[in-house]
Order: sequence, then C-alpha cells, then structure tokens
Amino acid sequence: MVFPKWTNKIPALALVSALGLLLLTIFVLWYWFSPKHLNVGYAPEQPIKYSHKVHAGTLGIDCRYCHYNVERGQFAGVPPTEVCMNCHTLVKPDFPEIVKIREAFSSGNPIPWVRVHKLPEFAYFNHSAHVNKGVSCVVCHGRIDQMDVVRQDQPLSMGWCMDCHRDPAKNIRDRKLVTNLAWHPDGDPVENGRKFMDKYHVNTRTDCSTCHR
Ligand code: HEC
Ligand code: HEC
Ligand code: HEC
Ligand code: HEC
Ligand code: HEC
Repeated sequence: MVFPKWTNKIPALALVSALGLLLLTIFVLWYWFSPKHLNVGYAPEQPIKYSHKVHAGTLGIDCRYCHYNVERGQFAGVPPTEVCMNCHTLVKPDFPEIVKIREAFSSGNPIPWVRVHKLPEFAYFNHSAHVNKGVSCVVCHGRIDQMDVVRQDQPLSMGWCMDCHRDPAKNIRDRKLVTNLAWHPDGDPVENGRKFMDKYHVNTRTDCSTCHR
C-alpha cells in the first residue's frame, strides 16, 4: 500500500467540513437577509388596514393627535382604540375594517398592532429628547404621511445614530415643524439648523453611556 491507512478517512472528513461550511453560509445569508437584521423596508401586515396616507396625509391629522406621548416621554406609543372611535363611531361605521375596530373596542382587548421599529434592549432611545430639540419624525421614519402600510425607512443602527450625533446641524429645525414631514428650509439646511441649535442649546453626545446605560 502506498498511502497509510488513516488516509481512507479523508473523503469522509472533507464531506463533513464541506457540509459544515455550507450550513454556515446558509446561516449567515439567512441572518443577514432576514428582515429583522436588514430592517430597512420591513413592513409587516397589520391586523386592520389602517393607512397613514389617508389619516396623516389626505385628512392632515397631526401625528401628535394619535402619538400623543411623543413630546413627553421615551416612547411615541401607538394610540388606544378609543382614539379611533372618536371618529369612527360616526365615520364609515359599517365598513368591514371599521367593524373590526368597534369589536376590539367593545371587547376591551387592544388591537394587536405589529411592531415595526425595535431597537435591541441594550440600546436606549428617547423620543422627547429628539422632538423637543427640533429633530423631525421624517429624519428617522421617512414620509409616513405617504405610506398606506408603515415601512422602516432608516437602518437605526449604531453607525446611523452616531452620524447625526457627530454633526446634527442639517437635521435640526424649528420644533413647531417637527410633524410637518413635507417641510424643507428655504435656504441652506445647515445654516437654518445652526440657528435652532443655538436657540435650543443642542449638545449631542457620543460617549457610550449616552445610549448604553
Ligand atoms: C389617526 C391616528 C394616527 C395618526 C394621525 C398618526 N399615526 Fe402613526 N400609527 C397609528 C397606528 C394605529 C399605528 C400602528 C399601526 C401601523 O403601524 O400602521 C401607527 C404606527 C406608526 C409608526 C410605526 C410604529 C412601530 O410599530 O414601529 C410610526 C413610525 C408612526 N406611526 C409615525 C407617525 C407619524 C410620523 C405621523 C404623522 C405624520 C403619524 N404616525 C400619525 C396611528 C396614527
Ligand atoms: C379625526 C378622525 C379620524 C380618526 C381619529 C381616525 N380616523 Fe380612520 N378615517 C377617518 C375618515 C374621515 C376616513 C374616511 C377616509 C375616506 O374614505 O376618504 C377614515 C378611514 C379609515 C379606514 C378605511 C375605511 C374603509 O374601509 O374605507 C380605516 C380602516 C380607518 N379609518 C381606521 C382607523 C383607525 C384604526 C384609527 C385609529 C388608530 C382611525 N381610523 C382614526 C377619520 C378618522
Ligand atoms: C432621532 C430619530 C427619531 C425621531 C426624530 C422620531 N423617531 Fe420614532 N422611533 C425611533 C426609533 C429608534 C424607534 C424604536 C424605539 C425602540 O425600539 O425603543 C422609534 C419608534 C417609534 C414608534 C413605535 C412606538 C414607540 O414609541 O417605540 C412610533 C409610533 C414612532 N416612533 C413615532 C414617531 C413620531 C410620531 C415622531 C415625530 C413626532 C418620531 N417617531 C420621531 C426614532 C425616531
Ligand atoms: C438626525 C439626528 C439624530 C439621530 C439620527 C439620532 N439622534 Fe439622538 N439626539 C439628537 C439630538 C439633536 C439630541 C438632543 C441633544 C441635546 O439634548 O441637546 C439627541 C439626544 C439623544 C439622547 C438623549 C441624551 C441625553 O442627554 O439624555 C439619546 C439617549 C439619544 N439621542 C440616542 C439616540 C439613538 C439610540 C439613536 C439611534 C437609534 C439616535 N439618538 C439618533 C439627534 C439625533
Ligand atoms: C447615539 C447612540 C449610541 C452611542 C453614543 C453608542 N452606541 Fe453602541 N449602539 C447603539 C445602537 C442603537 C445599537 C444597536 C444597533 C442594532 O440594532 O444593531 C448599538 C449597538 C452596540 C453594540 C452591539 C454590536 C452592534 O454593532 O450592533 C456594541 C458592542 C456597542 N453598541 C458598543 C458601543 C460603544 C463601545 C460605544 C462608545 C464608544 C457606543 N456603543 C456608543 C447606539 C449607540
């Protein structure tokens, strides 16, 4: 025999490691391309066909009518069913999607809206800290007022947060305009931003404990 006996195992070993490599590749691809990790564009189907394009766009209802905690606290929150009933006791009460709202309301169970934007637990975010310093919803959520179904517009990754924290000027505006998603400054956005950075004493931090506490 020319080769020692152990070399008989080589084909089997090669097969096992090739299989391992294949599984690893599949896992990496799956992890990377599954919507939870490549979140931009994530737009889950909702239990009721509620449209921001209709309510915030066409009807022009201010974001804060429904997300009324956005200026006050950490979370913007999703409105309780009562808020829908303010109008839908009268507006289109017999349409199938509206009947679902009424049924949820009388059952007392909240509508099971599917969460779209979600940071990992170890990252801290606060809405009021941004909105009250003149950062508009549009910077982080895109043109929600043109969406029938909410879709994630920005990566919300650490690098993305940092890009703005290092140099926020072009994203700062008069805080009266934060829910006006169509608004653009007349002149240079950086110059306009600087004005309001001074006015609101904006001082963005980049030390780790700002967002990891
Ligand atoms: C009439 C009430 C109402 C108004 C007005 C409204 N929203 Fe909403 N919003 C909802 C409801 C209900 C949901 C949950 C269902 C969904 O995601 O479509 C939601 C979801 C969202 C989400 C996704 C939440 C998540 O799960 O991550 C964002 C972002 C959002 N709204 C932003 C806005 C912005 C910006 C405006 C103003 C331009 C606005 N909303 C106006 C009712 C409203
Ligand atoms: C300020 C009043 C107002 C509030 C608050 C409101 N809506 Fe509406 N909604 C309307 C009006 C007006 C229409 C009709 C738009 C049209 O058909 O032109 C409508 C249409 C709808 C429709 C489409 C009905 C169909 O089948 O044609 C759905 C679904 C709906 N709303 C869900 C909701 C939900 C869910 C909430 C609470 C998060 C809500 N609405 C809060 C005023 C309101
Ligand atoms: C600086 C970026 C930024 C701005 C500005 C911003 N959001 Fe958000 N929003 C986020 C992030 C990040 C999340 C996910 C938060 C989490 O998982 O804790 C989120 C989540 C939400 C949610 C889901 C529920 C919640 O409270 O977590 C709603 C609704 C929402 N935003 C609405 C708004 C509205 C309305 C505005 C403007 C008035 C706004 N956001 C402005 C970044 C932003
Ligand atoms: C478009 C610009 C912008 C983006 C994007 C942004 N931030 Fe901010 N952030 C600001 C501004 C402006 C402030 C207010 C600074 C001040 O208080 O003067 C702020 C403040 C904060 C604060 C409050 C700090 C404190 O002193 O309590 C936290 C926490 C924070 N940001 C976390 C985040 C996280 C996490 C993300 C990404 C998911 C993010 N930010 C994305 C502009 C931004
Ligand atoms: C402005 C907010 C902000 C600051 C400041 C910040 N981080 Fe993060 N960090 C985040 C967010 C948001 C995530 C989650 C991103 C995601 O969804 O994967 C994160 C994720 C991480 C992760 C997990 C790995 C990853 O990339 O997802 C590590 C480790 C980390 N941060 C370390 C640090 C260290 C060390 C510092 C200080 C040099 C720091 N962070 C400063 C917002 C911040």
